[in-house]
Amino acid sequence: MTSTTQKQPRHLLSLLDLTPAELHKIINRAIELKSILRRGELHESLKNRTLAMVFEKSSTRTRVSFEAGMTHLGGKAIFLSPRDTQLGRGEPIEDTARVLSRMVDCIMVRTYKQSDLALFAAHSRVPVINALTDLFHPLQLLADLQTWFEHRGDIKGKTVLWVGDGNNMCHSYINASKQFGFKLRIACPKGFDPDTTILESAKEHCEIIRDPLAAAENADLVVTDVWASMGQEEEQAKREQAFANYQVNDMLMDQARKDALFMHCLPAHRGEEVTASVIDRKDSVVWEEAENRMHSQKALLEFLIHG
Ligand code: CP
Ligand code: NVA
Repeated sequence: MTSTTQKQPRHLLSLLDLTPAELHKIINRAIELKSILRRGELHESLKNRTLAMVFEKSSTRTRVSFEAGMTHLGGKAIFLSPRDTQLGRGEPIEDTARVLSRMVDCIMVRTYKQSDLALFAAHSRVPVINALTDLFHPLQLLADLQTWFEHRGDIKGKTVLWVGDGNNMCHSYINASKQFGFKLRIACPKGFDPDTTILESAKEHCEIIRDPLAAAENADLVVTDVWASMGQEEEQAKREQAFANYQVNDMLMDQARKDALFMHCLPAHRGEEVTASVIDRKDSVVWEEAENRMHSQKALLEFLIHG
């Protein structure tokens, strides 16, 4: 049921594409959709709608949460990998966007460069969702924030600690600090800082603290991610050295508030960026966080497709 009118679509290329009010609305809706599903009620708000999923990097959570989510909502998701599409054989991004967006109702893209995603969106007639680039991972933040709200209520004024690489997840936490009004401490080794422009844009909310134990003091939420992201595999050994003091372990968690939550977007490397004891502790919410990818993306799809 592809729309024939030429209204400009809304996209989610970063968290800054939505207003704070819209982000809160999506999170509330995600919580509602989760309970509708739990009650076993049928809710086919995207019946006959199609989501195209363009993946240029691997995925477990993103792919399955979108596919299952579209099934719940009565629609369908199509998985497209570069091995099987003409995009992988050099068909221009613009042409791929033009063609796909005449056939489907929404497109999610997981790719390397943010500029490729922006190019895709500029040539799409339907909403385009950033399903991870080297620069941002906004979908993970929707799930993380939903998880926080479910456990602790509003995050405004709270202190979040990011430990590790100044990567795509860290950048999305910086954007979220601005949109949701929390304080973000970033504990990263020199040479692995987040992008200066992104950091500068949220400077009232963020600070870099090199010492992870000092940074953890009284934090409400502790978050980390892998030391080598997708595409950086050959830097693994170098990064293991650089991040050796940046592991989230029990000692670090002991510096945070007693009721501090722990989150990780997953996949995690136990014994590297986080110990098994932290992943398995009572205040680790990583499994709910992963599940919430599905609920929050369903809410986002409803928002983008229905407006
Ligand atoms: N967190 C996350 O995006 O996981 P996947 O890479 O498995 O999709
Ligand atoms: N920073 C990680 C996140 C994976 C979900 C990566 O880009 O590989």
